[in-house]
Amino acid sequence: VTGANDAEVPFLDPYPDDLQAHREELYQQGPVTPVELPGGVRAWATTHHAAAKATLNDPRFVKDPHQWADFQNGKVSQDWPYMGVLTFDGINMLGLDGAPHRRMRRLTAHPFSARRVERLRPHIERITDEYLDALDKRAHEPLDLKKEFSFRVPITVIGELYGVPEEEYDKLGDLYAPLFFVDTDPGEHLDLYAQIYQYFTELVARKKADLDAHDDFTTDLLRSTGEGEEPLTEGEVIVTLLMVVAAGHETTVNLINNVVRALLNHPEEHARLRAGELTWEQVIEETLRYNPPNNAILFRFATEDVPMGEVTISKGDALVTHYGAITKDREEYGEDVHVFDPSRTKGRHISFGYGPHMCPGAPLARLEAGIVLRKLFARFPDLRLAVPDRELENEAALIVNSLKEFPVLLRP
Ligand code: HEM
Repeated sequence: VTGANDAEVPFLDPYPDDLQAHREELYQQGPVTPVELPGGVRAWATTHHAAAKATLNDPRFVKDPHQWADFQNGKVSQDWPYMGVLTFDGINMLGLDGAPHRRMRRLTAHPFSARRVERLRPHIERITDEYLDALDKRAHEPLDLKKEFSFRVPITVIGELYGVPEEEYDKLGDLYAPLFFVDTDPGEHLDLYAQIYQYFTELVARKKADLDAHDDFTTDLLRSTGEGEEPLTEGEVIVTLLMVVAAGHETTVNLINNVVRALLNHPEEHARLRAGELTWEQVIEETLRYNPPNNAILFRFATEDVPMGEVTISKGDALVTHYGAITKDREEYGEDVHVFDPSRTKGRHISFGYGPHMCPGAPLARLEAGIVLRKLFARFPDLRLAVPDRELENEAALIVNSLKEFPVLLRP
């Protein structure tokens, strides 16, 4: 990454004091700015809406990390802490480009489709009711809504989606929980991933043994065929199961938490929602704009020199899409970007991404958030924060936008 004075290069701080202010500072540097990441790693970031859309839809920017010059020349080593978000295996759709990526998307289009996930509605309703019933008994004491509810429902829904036997839902949740909740050391992480890999390998073997007996995402993947398309291999199915949890779980947790938080901090909008002047869909979409589940996605890599306005992204440079900064885009949303306004009509967020990698899980995330939030507030209409909002702490915010804990009182 060249063309900038080092002193002026903004740092993508995983622990900013004020996330909204950090986003605004980055937006002000835009539309495309050089940035520094932890470990002294240099990249570019798109921080304006139009620039992000342009790069996300431009085949000169690819996901294949082998194109990253600083990795190839050893400037960035394999043990850089964020290396884990890049995919080198050549079978995970998140890291594929061009024709192999299109093949994966076509073969998974049906299992991800809105029509297919709509069939989960009664299951999501039941799962949500069960968790709410359990919380009811503790509604008068402060509790961590993330740990007790917003983390648990989506992992259970993924279990249901995958066709995991009900008695194993907890096992799946327990395998994933330490990855999110504890400062687990890297060795333990590897061990957990190995266990999860093993679990999905066994699940696939069980489904494969009698494909006609099952009707779920895993079986859909195993059965997937397309015209002139090589069907998914067993390895591709397992990697897809692993990746979907990584891509779709924490993001959904964050969406649910961020909507609850936005409503508790904006009582006037909450009152309008209750009065029927706003819909849940408007509230969810504005939350996706105002406080998106991902702060940033690492990386695209330039396969040739790409001039963008006053700067040129050189072949081999890494590019971050900064979804957090994009929320501040005046051209897209108007001057009131800092305001949480579910009735806004100007602008369309791209928090589910854009272009060929656009999130295929958006229908499920929207369906689930709609059900879970309606039911949560119907059961606990007076839900409120148990601590002042300024005391809420974020997990490392470089990529995902997660709260550490979300202490609330359900029935004050
Ligand atoms: C990709 C956001 C929920 C599965 C993406 C991308 C974004 C995103 C921004 C694009 C990444 C990129 O450009 O590199 C979100 C948000 C969610 C959410 C904000 C929740 C509110 C889900 C769910 C699932 C899912 C529930 C699965 C059931 C995926 C997959 C990809 C992806 C498989 C990779 C697509 C590809 O590379 O072609 N998501 N996601 N996501 N998401 Fe989601």
